[in-house]
Amino acid sequence: MTAWEAAADVVVVGTGVAGLTAALEARALGLRVLVVTKVTAEDGNTRWAQGGVAVVLPGEHDPGDSVHRHAADTVAAGAGLCEADAVAAIIADGPAAVTRLRERGAVFDAAEGGRLARTREGGHSAFRVVHAGGDATGAEVERALLTAARDGRVPVLEGHIAVRALHARSGAVAGLLVLDAHGVPGVLRAPAVLLATGGLGQLYAATTNPEVATADGLAIALRAGAAVADVEFVQFHPTVLYTGRDARGRCPLVTEAVRGEGAVLVDAAGNRVMAGVHPLADLAPRDVVAAAITRRVAETGTDHVYLDATHLGGDAFRRRFPTVHAACVAAGVDPATEPIPVAPAAHFACGGVMSTVDGRTWVTGLYAAGEVARSGLHGANRLASNSLLEGLVMGARAARAVAGDLAAGLLADPRHAEPAELPAAAVPDRDVLQRTMTRYAGIGRDATGLAAALSTLDACAVHRPLRTRQSVEDAALGLAAHALLTAATERTESRGCHVRTDHPDTDDISWRRSLPLRLDASGH
Ligand code: SIN
Repeated sequence: MTAWEAAADVVVVGTGVAGLTAALEARALGLRVLVVTKVTAEDGNTRWAQGGVAVVLPGEHDPGDSVHRHAADTVAAGAGLCEADAVAAIIADGPAAVTRLRERGAVFDAAEGGRLARTREGGHSAFRVVHAGGDATGAEVERALLTAARDGRVPVLEGHIAVRALHARSGAVAGLLVLDAHGVPGVLRAPAVLLATGGLGQLYAATTNPEVATADGLAIALRAGAAVADVEFVQFHPTVLYTGRDARGRCPLVTEAVRGEGAVLVDAAGNRVMAGVHPLADLAPRDVVAAAITRRVAETGTDHVYLDATHLGGDAFRRRFPTVHAACVAAGVDPATEPIPVAPAAHFACGGVMSTVDGRTWVTGLYAAGEVARSGLHGANRLASNSLLEGLVMGARAARAVAGDLAAGLLADPRHAEPAELPAAAVPDRDVLQRTMTRYAGIGRDATGLAAALSTLDACAVHRPLRTRQSVEDAALGLAAHALLTAATERTESRGCHVRTDHPDTDDISWRRSLPLRLDASGH
């Protein structure tokens, strides 16, 4: 039984770039909006984003650059699995979305002459990544959107974790069951629920993601009957500050923009890692760089390589990359005089809840936007700095889709939602799960390891009711891990971020396609 209730036209889950953009847009369209977040509103993944927003703004960019070139780079990075229509739609909406963000108060770095400063990252054929605070773009995006949301009095329920969607008799979503900050269950009645919960980096022992990135939205969508796809494509960021073999939890990112400004990857002997690997060398797409580092580390019997940015000099580095500089100094590394030790770590879910570019999922009334969604933009490997862009564009589009679907009478009456029972689910031990996924489902997987991972996960799980935030998160991680391992087992080829050591080739005949997954009757 639930102890409390609230109602809205749309409940938005998550307060990152996609969720806040959707909430602001929905509010502007006259909808009653309620936003829920399991921690404080600032605490999502967005604020940790460093590099920037990839976008081609008229009047700001090189004459040779264009949204078509940006789209072509996105498709090339996606290793054959991007959906051309989704790429075209999202990239084309980018300039308006960034302009809207600037109108909402976000301030991007300026270059001499007053134009926006731009950098380049892996896979981009032009300098088109705009940034803020040097390497603190996500923090500025989050600040601007949160300020706008607070100024606009958008209600945000902090400390409330979403447990599962509630359905009307038709099967359409009609609300959400949540636990409040004291663990008391309550119901949010709404004809539309928009998942903007971010990613799943906490599946792994070391990640650039904060501790809140526990696949919550993916689990809610699966339990609601929606499909997920491309979940096997977890992007490992090539350059995460290496602080020791046993690093756990959120590890500091060394933005790819450092390579955009000329830094190069070297091994312990000073040999270039990316020489001869790809025509773009150190600015190859992220999957190529992460895989090359993994190979070099295996060949040289070590566990990290180095990023040499000494050519920039101390002052320039500190000014341009204040966040990275502070993390290096805290780890006892001076990037002005010595190469930065780096290793790949889990960074971004290229797949997620199958949705249109307007955020509609396979279940009426359930929408997804941002990292939790699989819109078709990223394919098998996301192009750098396309994630904030996707959040901005999809957040706005999903809000418009909700407004349109409501006006067209397509959504359920939330007064007729089913009774809200707390679900029970398989809850794995998080420590065992993270170590297992790191060992068997990182860069380089094979059938034996994937099978071992699946049975370890089953063995460490206990079936119990989801009464606490910890159990909701652990159950979500378990469900996401299961989907990822299942997809990784089925995809008997290597493509993008999915590297099978027992199937090293790309198989375009059988596998140039996504693999949609839904829950079966056993809950897997
Ligand atoms: C980075 O700054 O290297 C990360 C940005 C991104 O993930 O797109």
